[in-house]
Amino acid sequence: MKFRAIMGALCAAGLLGGVATAQAAESLEVLHWWTSGGESKAVGVLKDDMTKQGYVWKDFAVAGGAGAAAMTALKTQVISGNAPSAAQIKGPLIQEWAEQGVLVPIDSVAGDWKANLPPQIDKIIHADGKYVAAPFSVHRVNWVWINKAALDKVGGKAPTTWPEFFALADKFKAAGIQPVAAGGQPWQDLTLWEDVVLSQGADFYKKALVDLDQKTLTSQQMVGVFDTVRKIESYMDNGRTGRDWNLATAMVINGKAGMQFMGDWAKGEFANANKQPGTDYVCAAVPGTAKAYTFNVDSFVFFQQKGQKAATAGQLALAKTIMSPEFQEQFSLYKGSIPVRLGVDMSKFDDCAKKSYADEQTAIKAGGYVPSLAHGMAQPDATAGAITDVVTKFMNSTQDSKSAVEALAKAAKTK
Ligand code: GAL
Repeated sequence: MKFRAIMGALCAAGLLGGVATAQAAESLEVLHWWTSGGESKAVGVLKDDMTKQGYVWKDFAVAGGAGAAAMTALKTQVISGNAPSAAQIKGPLIQEWAEQGVLVPIDSVAGDWKANLPPQIDKIIHADGKYVAAPFSVHRVNWVWINKAALDKVGGKAPTTWPEFFALADKFKAAGIQPVAAGGQPWQDLTLWEDVVLSQGADFYKKALVDLDQKTLTSQQMVGVFDTVRKIESYMDNGRTGRDWNLATAMVINGKAGMQFMGDWAKGEFANANKQPGTDYVCAAVPGTAKAYTFNVDSFVFFQQKGQKAATAGQLALAKTIMSPEFQEQFSLYKGSIPVRLGVDMSKFDDCAKKSYADEQTAIKAGGYVPSLAHGMAQPDATAGAITDVVTKFMNSTQDSKSAVEALAKAAKTK
């Protein structure tokens, strides 16, 4: 590795000239969707680490929160025989790609992973008994972000129930502050909707969105979920259609809006704007979800490269770096997440991250640790897509809750 690092540095400085061609540094083409301020800073840590190790980082960033556009680009690349070295893939989609026979195992660098990962997550990154993905961090999805000055102005406190939430939203409205910042994109609609499903209890969430239990999906309680979403929607602005999530976060950062429902990658934006939790903003679990935790774990998979049977040296180095304690710490500090690797020192993390970590432990013990549907952790792509369509259609029309529930029950049968 040392030799490679030296070679890399010399090549970068142009000192090896023609001699270097025989030892050309391996290029790593990396497909991801981390393009917001906080996200770019976080992925920049990996880029710098790999460059220091002598590899050439070829950034293949495809903008678009939650990665729908990135996933389309990836399919095109793979079909045309130009699979990237690594791509941001997570949840059941890892298995779907592995089944295509295009991924390479990375077991040779994963010797200590099992002992250092929560079992739920260790399972997700395996296919056919081999490690095929390297996990970055754990994002909690069920958060509400609140501007602290706005909160103080209206004399409010972070809501823990829906009635408290609507009372606070009314106060913001009366004070001329947009109560809820949102971006009208399908995945953002689904993020809010799954938050409200979770507020009915982790068991309800599991039955509905993990087991796809028809009785739960068609229950009166589920009709109530859509009613609540409709009511929350009435506190959003008309300009939200197509707005990116980070622009909605910016509305909370600058006090134009009071609150945003978003996973803690939003914290990466607050951090990037030098805002401190407790002073500038408040992180609170979505009303009714204090003991539950929707998890979203980003990971990279590694594609077989032309003329190679197994993972290349660069792919293995990438996987190894992603799971190293130093990288895990710095990445999450920028990203708003917490390290997925167990036992990483949390002393440099802010109170929201510490709360995330503590709540994660509580939720794991109490059975409230559930995979996020909106972020590709709970269902295969086709099922998640069909449910997303139902929720987005509901939020962009005047459809009544009962017929949305009927559509939901049908969508859940999509395979
Ligand atoms: C999520 C992803 C996060 C964050 C977010 C917005 O699906 O897991 O890392 O990037 O999308 O783009």
